[in-house]
Amino acid sequence: MKNIVVLISGRGSNFVSIAESAKRENWLDEGIQISCVISNRPGAAGLDRAREMGIHAEVVDHKLFDTREAFEDAMMQIIDRYDPAVIVLAGFMRVLTNHFVERYPGKILNIHPALLPLFKGLDTHARAIAAGVRVHGCTVHFVSPELDAGAIIGQAVVPVLPSDDPDKLAHRGLKLEHVLYPRAVHAVATGSVKLVDGRTEMDDETALSLTLFDAAA
Ligand code: GRF
Repeated sequence: MKNIVVLISGRGSNFVSIAESAKRENWLDEGIQISCVISNRPGAAGLDRAREMGIHAEVVDHKLFDTREAFEDAMMQIIDRYDPAVIVLAGFMRVLTNHFVERYPGKILNIHPALLPLFKGLDTHARAIAAGVRVHGCTVHFVSPELDAGAIIGQAVVPVLPSDDPDKLAHRGLKLEHVLYPRAVHAVATGSVKLVDGRTEMDDETALSLTLFDAAA
């Protein structure tokens, strides 16, 4: 069985979109299952959604640990029970150190709410509006030790409109996150997308399925 472990910190809408795709598309028939959700915040709404869907959910509260490494060790203890094929960061708001990242090479994915390499870090929507860009979007990438800098897997593009505020723009982008992220997770789980020597490898058809454009506002 190819296990997927999802790390969250909050509402977990990306986790839910992945879990719903897994169900709708019968990933289980391909030997792929979402085995566990871990939140670093006890109150994360995504934990309830996981439990409602019958997915094992755990909390590793970062506040209970003195160092990032000790917090990561506690997560790794849970994660390693599943020997996961993919570890999905879905709104997980802790920076992971090399200690964690180097243990799972080519297996950790993140979704970032901007078209990388533009707008790494936080407040991406406000910064995109301030910069006056006409397009914005989201990026799924492999996680590397440097923040928001790992090899890109897929991107989705949305327009930026003169009447936008950060919330409107975030909402437009999030709709595409929910399409792109399940596809990317599935593609890595099946092996049609791989990290090789720091670059993403896939065929043209897979690349097209991981490139989305939404001109609708
Ligand atoms: C998304 O905008 C994602 O791009 C960013 O954090 C947000 C998570 O939302 N990394 P959710 O918890 O999946 O609803």
